[in-house]
Amino acid sequence: MSKMEYQAEYQGYLNRIEAILQQLCEQFLPESSEVCRAARYSLLSGGKRVRAVLVLTTCELLGGDAKAAEWFAGAVEMVHCYSLIHDDLPCMDDDDFRRGKPSCHKAFSEATALLAGDALLTAAFQVLANAPTDGDMIAKAVKELSTAAGANGMIFGQELDLYHETVPASAGQLLQIHRNKTGALINAAVQLGAVSARAEVRTKDILRQYAYDVGLVFQIVDDVLDVTSTTDTLGKPVGSDEENNKTTFVRLYGVEGALQHAQTINQRACAILGENFAEKSAFLEEFAARLLVRKH
Ligand code: IPE
Ligand code: IPE
Ligand code: MG
Ligand code: MG
Ligand code: MG
Repeated sequence: MSKMEYQAEYQGYLNRIEAILQQLCEQFLPESSEVCRAARYSLLSGGKRVRAVLVLTTCELLGGDAKAAEWFAGAVEMVHCYSLIHDDLPCMDDDDFRRGKPSCHKAFSEATALLAGDALLTAAFQVLANAPTDGDMIAKAVKELSTAAGANGMIFGQELDLYHETVPASAGQLLQIHRNKTGALINAAVQLGAVSARAEVRTKDILRQYAYDVGLVFQIVDDVLDVTSTTDTLGKPVGSDEENNKTTFVRLYGVEGALQHAQTINQRACAILGENFAEKSAFLEEFAARLLVRKH
């Protein structure tokens, strides 16, 4: 797959994602209230849309229902965005910038940001419930997203991440943090794509291995960028992890060691797909490779 083909395909996904998010906001987050304005401020302010792209491209890989997948992609971005709003709050990472703009609690009030996060989380499941498909597919989608986002998934990861600000994490514990706080939702995105295609268990298992590896690479690179990038490039404060005394891959292995680790995991992720889908998974493999060398 050439660079131009990849970029055109990515842009195509982005256009679909921005359009569906706009549509879902009109339908489920009307601008008539301050909380909805705050939710829209954060949701419609860019972001790489990595999770939404994963839903759409997995759907395509498996020949799924593209319309349902768009709604699922919207829902997963809503959950992701809520997690960022809450993650930035003073009681969590206390970060004042996000996506190149003041964080939600800076642009609005803390209470409004808290509620905007709540509203996005709730709206995500409203979106799933109203997705243009049948009840069986909707139930499976709800199961995937709620499991990933909940107290045994992303929330658990955030809980551990905060706990280990005061109690240093071992390498094994750090893997557990990353697997939950980042891997779980990235896996949900891929699994929602699989649900849109009514994929069988074996296919879902293969995709799960890819997704958790990609999630791990993604969070390792996020940790590296927190020390090597600039706030301008990143659109969020650098040095946040050090300031909050987080255990990260950089702390345990250094920048070079962390990136080396990420590279090995990335190769494993791509190999799993290549072995099972051959050239059909070219986009997903390129996608993973680019997450490794991303600059923001
Ligand atoms: C940031 O996620 C939080 C992590 C899990 C590392 P992204 O880097 O995907 O943030 P946006 O959506 O592009 O802003
Ligand atoms: C955030 O991890 C993970 C979730 C929001 C679930 P980070 O705290 O590292 O994300 P950034 O660096 O603030 O985007
Ligand atoms: Mg955090
Ligand atoms: Mg943070
Ligand atoms: Mg970070």
